[in-house]
Amino acid sequence: MSSLRHRLLITLLVWIGLMLAALFIIVLQLLPLYENATDKTDIWLILFVSFVVVMILSAIVGSRVIDVAIKPIENATETAMELVKGNYLARASESNAEKTVELSRTINILARNLQEITAIRVMEQERLKTLIENMGSALIMIDKQGAVSLVNKPFLEEFGLTPESVMGKFYKEIQVPSVVEGFIETVFMTETLARVQIEFVSGIKLKNFTVYGAPVIGDHQRWLGIVIVFQEITELKRLEQIRKDFVANVSHELRTPVTSIKGFSETLLDGAYQDTNTLLSFLEIIYTESNRLEMLINDLLELSKVEQNGFRVNAHPTDMEAIIKRAIEMIQSKITEKFIHVKLEIQPVLVLGDPNRLIQVMVNLLINAVTYSSSQTVITIRLLVEDNQAIIQVVDQGIGIEETEIERLFERFYRVDRARSRNSGGTGLGLSIVKHLIEAHHGRVEVDSTVGIGTTFTIYLPLAD
Ligand SMILES: Nc1ncnc2c1ncn2[C@@H]1O[C@H](COP(=O)(O)OP(=O)(O)O)[C@@H](O)[C@H]1O
Ligand SMILES: [Mg+2]
Repeated sequence: MSSLRHRLLITLLVWIGLMLAALFIIVLQLLPLYENATDKTDIWLILFVSFVVVMILSAIVGSRVIDVAIKPIENATETAMELVKGNYLARASESNAEKTVELSRTINILARNLQEITAIRVMEQERLKTLIENMGSALIMIDKQGAVSLVNKPFLEEFGLTPESVMGKFYKEIQVPSVVEGFIETVFMTETLARVQIEFVSGIKLKNFTVYGAPVIGDHQRWLGIVIVFQEITELKRLEQIRKDFVANVSHELRTPVTSIKGFSETLLDGAYQDTNTLLSFLEIIYTESNRLEMLINDLLELSKVEQNGFRVNAHPTDMEAIIKRAIEMIQSKITEKFIHVKLEIQPVLVLGDPNRLIQVMVNLLINAVTYSSSQTVITIRLLVEDNQAIIQVVDQGIGIEETEIERLFERFYRVDRARSRNSGGTGLGLSIVKHLIEAHHGRVEVDSTVGIGTTFTIYLPLAD
């Protein structure tokens, strides 16, 4: 820009020089009129000095004038250059006169628009990035040459990859299970929407995914590549399996007593009823089995009730000691039958709970303690307060439970020793019901057991108040 300034200044000075030279020639023409002047050198000197003075003054005034005229243009140009470089915060100064102000103002409006547009674009990019990173599903985008153009963190984590090992690589080069690669290939080749369910081993776990593939279409229907999204459904699959197992278990558990009731009554009808002893013992079996059937149905109904979403207990301040004593009373016959001694170590505690539900919990735990203990052993029931919560313990000296079995104990129908436990008369649902009921009280259950020594069930419950 300064070259423009120099050129203008030089042009101005040349112009003034020419004008002065013309003036000189006129003066020279007039000189003979001063023939009689005494000293001609004086006139030449005066002319030369005034020439120099005029040139200096012109240079100063000229450069000032140029300054005023050029500066805004320079300023506007500089601002435009900054905008080109991407500095949208640059602004031209608007403090100059008239026309040039309009130029600066226009440039500033342009700059402001650019700044706004960029801000919006950055925000949209950030939003999209956040969405892609946090969508919870793995995502990969492949451009039309087959190179990976985008992956999110879940994708890298799922397949144990680093960004460097994926970005820009041909899709066949990246280390993913062959089923995944096969699906990517199909979508890439056919350029159509596709959805499959696949399973593969990730680490040591078998995982299930629903995978969606879609072409990416740009302006004017141009095909830009494909995008693949992996939605994990391992948990859904697990729940589906639990449901299937449950139905299978229920059918099995129901069939056993029904088969035996049917078999014994058929034999009786075929003539066995005539022998009084057979009649009595068969009726006995039929009665026991129908009892078991009834128990099973009751437990199933109970379980389905407490497993309902939003199941609530009717909790209020409840005397836990009274609950324990009531539960013992209810199974007293079983206790007496096995000559078991029940020892109470109780301090009075008011818990926040539903008395009927808590009796149900205690009866379930006590029946287990009695069932899985030999006769003439001791069952200790403790009730105390610790860390601002009520603790109830049922300690038996029974057969105990293997460490490895403990985590599955609360599953529906889970029994440590299927045959023996079924003969013991339980349904395999007791502990599931206990767990749900205690959790509905905002409490928890813990088990501690040593095979051959005994088992301790500990319940933590909130205190009233
Ligand atoms: N106090 C205990 N001592 C030893 N094993 C127990 C005890 N309580 C429960 N179990 C084991 O846990 C399994 C599940 O208990 P539960 O759900 O009450 O079903 P069940 O109807 O078989 O009693 C039982 O079959 C038994 O193997
Ligand atoms: Mg039980």
